[in-house]
Amino acid sequence: MKISSTQWEGFRNLKPRRLEWAEGLHLLLGPNGSGKTNILEAFHVLTGWGSLRGERTADLRSWTDPGRGTFLSASFDGEDSLEVKVGIGARIVAKKGGSSLRSSQLRPLVPSLIFLPNDLSLVEGSPATRRRLIDRLCALLFPVYALRLHEYGRALRQRNASVRMGRNLAATARVMAPLAAWIWACRLTAVDLIRNGLEEGEGLLPPGVMLELKRGGRGLEDLHLDFWESLEAGQKQERATGVCPVGPHRDDLVIRFQERDVARCFSRGYRRRVAIALLLSSGWAVERKMRRKPILLLDEVMAELDHEGREQLIAVLLRTGWQVFATTAEDCTPDWPGRVWSVEGGRVDEG
Ligand SMILES: Nc1ncnc2c1ncn2[C@@H]1O[C@H](COP(=O)(O)OP(=O)(O)OP(=O)(O)O)[C@@H](O)[C@H]1O
Ligand SMILES: [Mg+2]
Repeated sequence: MKISSTQWEGFRNLKPRRLEWAEGLHLLLGPNGSGKTNILEAFHVLTGWGSLRGERTADLRSWTDPGRGTFLSASFDGEDSLEVKVGIGARIVAKKGGSSLRSSQLRPLVPSLIFLPNDLSLVEGSPATRRRLIDRLCALLFPVYALRLHEYGRALRQRNASVRMGRNLAATARVMAPLAAWIWACRLTAVDLIRNGLEEGEGLLPPGVMLELKRGGRGLEDLHLDFWESLEAGQKQERATGVCPVGPHRDDLVIRFQERDVARCFSRGYRRRVAIALLLSSGWAVERKMRRKPILLLDEVMAELDHEGREQLIAVLLRTGWQVFATTAEDCTPDWPGRVWSVEGGRVDEG
């Protein structure tokens, strides 16, 4: 898919503007605080995801002009053609052709993937950061995934509370088991797809980077059985710690190069390349499974890459044929093979 035009009003620091976007690569260039990330955030909201910084929805509305309503709209073309309008009040309300649309319905129609500057923590951060990468891909590939993950999280919180109060745990286990097995099955599929996608990013990484989903169970092939048996085996630990030691909330994505953890054996620039390659691989997974080209939103993706790394990344992006929006505060890519937009004080202009 591609965004062919957008319009925004009262959104963060962005000046009201209608813009036409061609396919291919777009570079948003501007000084710190000019509004580049806010533009990516507008695209993020328009494609069914929420605010970027996990803030309250109300923070998306302009501080300087609080009386003005906050609206975003976009036309999308490509595998499909649709108009999306988003109103931002107490909640984000998306509409397609006048009818309301839930985010879980909008996201697969216009699949977008985002890379944020702190995504370096994908490699060296906690397992929760890596689970988030898999969960975002799963939320695109399996429309009820986000809902089931939410239900699983609720049942897990109930179970942890019951353990601490010494209550019977059988009821929560019965709710968690089918959800856990389903979430594991989705995550295994997603990791297989990301693994295949890594091969397409040739050049960005040395060959031989391996991925594996390390499940928070005992590793039995039958996922239901694995949950039940792991739960039983972990009972003593659960009673002692008051925390359920088994289930998808304990999963991790293990990333290795020549049998070593990449967080230890790769330099900072290469850890960054791994994080970018994982996002690109998610894009290939989307294209292969959903038959739709993803829209890539890349915030400060060139930072810390050397000249060769930038060239490799641009070559890979060009090969994908996807629409890409990348931001940079410094013009570090004089031979950018796409359009360049200047962003200044919330205003966007071509060239
Ligand atoms: N709700 C809001 N209303 C008005 N202005 C806002 C709002 N939220 C954020 N801003 C302002 O928007 C400005 C631009 O932020 P943004 O993060 O997009 O900058 P940027 O161009 O990405 O900068 P950097 O290069 O530092 O990443 C910031 O100065 C911020 O204070
Ligand atoms: Mg920014």
